Amino acid sequence: MRWYEDEELWTEFSGTLFSERRRAEAARTVAASPLLAFPPGSRVLDLCCGPGLFLVPLAARGHDVTGVDLSAAMLGRARAALAAAGAGARLVRADMLEHVEPGRYDVVLNLYTSFGYFDDPEDNLRVLRNAYASLAPGGRLLVDVMGKEVLAGWIGRPQLADLGDGGYVVQRDTVLDDWTRLRTDWTLVRGTTAREASITCFLYSAAELRALLETAGFTAVTCYGGFDGAPYDQHSRRLVVQGTRPGGPAPSPP
Ligand SMILES: C[S@@+](CC[C@H](N)C(=O)[O-])C[C@H]1O[C@@H](n2cnc3c(N)ncnc32)[C@H](O)[C@@H]1O
Repeated sequence: MRWYEDEELWTEFSGTLFSERRRAEAARTVAASPLLAFPPGSRVLDLCCGPGLFLVPLAARGHDVTGVDLSAAMLGRARAALAAAGAGARLVRADMLEHVEPGRYDVVLNLYTSFGYFDDPEDNLRVLRNAYASLAPGGRLLVDVMGKEVLAGWIGRPQLADLGDGGYVVQRDTVLDDWTRLRTDWTLVRGTTAREASITCFLYSAAELRALLETAGFTAVTCYGGFDGAPYDQHSRRLVVQGTRPGGPAPSPP
């Protein structure tokens, strides 16, 4: 089993990944971000939607939203969150490596470091090609990751997250393959029990991710330092890259 196929990883570490604080922050981001200010009724795909932190406020704004995720448990949580908010969205269980709905969307979102999961760099490029194919001409893709430059500013010190329910998570990061990939080891401690998990992702600088979007056919590729649309610079905490699918058919892979 590949690390990202481990349902328990996403559910057991959800206290730190999908906290109530993050859910509230995602709602504020959807309300305020110029990058997420789509025309009413836009057809939006949230690729790797998790338990719906962005999906729910996007649906509540009246967009025609689809959430795709590999985890049935995450989709179950997204369904419950939609019901609690009185919002509706289509939910599909699928692998981002395979999921394509030609020309269906105005916007494809891939948020909170849900990109770079595959060991073969060509597979990560394929995810971008899939997103391109799923967009209508003129549609936009937004990818939000931890940029390599940002990470370099704080990596090395173990991080501790207090879950507020007596549990806590220790995070240790290890740079691999000449800053090509990052392994993150988590230990979740509750009382006398500890649960360990590891995730390994590709790391991208702004220039690398921009080049990857351009290889997949996107134009007007722009890097931002967050959803406020600020430039990606020494003050940034995230790397948000936006690209547009121009008119015409999808370019075929070389
Ligand atoms: C870091 S979480 C981010 C979730 C959400 N975007 C958010 O902002 O909270 C990554 C999500 O990607 C999903 N995932 C992992 N591998 C996947 C794959 N190959 N295809 C589709 N979803 C995947 C996981 O189940 C998880 O819900």
